[in-house]
Amino acid sequence: MTAQVHSQIQIPTGKTVWLTGLSGAGKSTLASRLTDRLRGQGQPAEWLDGDELRRNLGRGLGFSREDRFENIRRAVYLAGMLNRHGVTAVVSLISPYADMRDYARRELPGFVEVYVDCPLPVCEQRDVKGLYAKARRGEIPEFTGISDPYEIPANPELTLRTAERTPEECVEELAAWLTGNRLDPLRA
Ligand code: ADX
Repeated sequence: MTAQVHSQIQIPTGKTVWLTGLSGAGKSTLASRLTDRLRGQGQPAEWLDGDELRRNLGRGLGFSREDRFENIRRAVYLAGMLNRHGVTAVVSLISPYADMRDYARRELPGFVEVYVDCPLPVCEQRDVKGLYAKARRGEIPEFTGISDPYEIPANPELTLRTAERTPEECVEELAAWLTGNRLDPLRA
């Protein structure tokens, strides 16, 4: 698939690697490492992270279903722009609802859904940001996994079990999968 961004230049459309999973599952770690790896291979890539997006483009958005959808809609819009210019978008968002991820799949021709699978007790034990403890104390409402739902992907392209594998192994598996699926259409 190609996108015409200039009257004479045809460039391959980039993919969107969409990492979904609970807070603390390891999405950002894997997204960051994958982005570095792709760039190291000469593949233009951008990392779109939930916390960062919310800081820069999502001021005022909370965690209601509607606000999460708006957050995701903005990420999809950005990813689409990047993809049209041949850039792979690596997205790390909880994106807890199946219909939101289905929306992303419909909008983005190169959508790849990756379920970053980590049991809630492990995420909670990691509690990198201390948010699970706060959520348990009732200080954060609508907290995914505690007081808000997470719908497990029914049919993701790939599942990475971060409680059982190292980040290196997970990124290796992801990169191998993407190569097999012709992440870079120039090599097809
Ligand atoms: S999403 O649901 O809209 O996809 P997103 O990935 O952008 O969520 O943001 C999740 C991050 O926001 C978490 O990693 C955590 O740091 C923070 N956060 C703050 N409040 C909540 C909450 N109620 N539910 C989930 N994450 C929260």
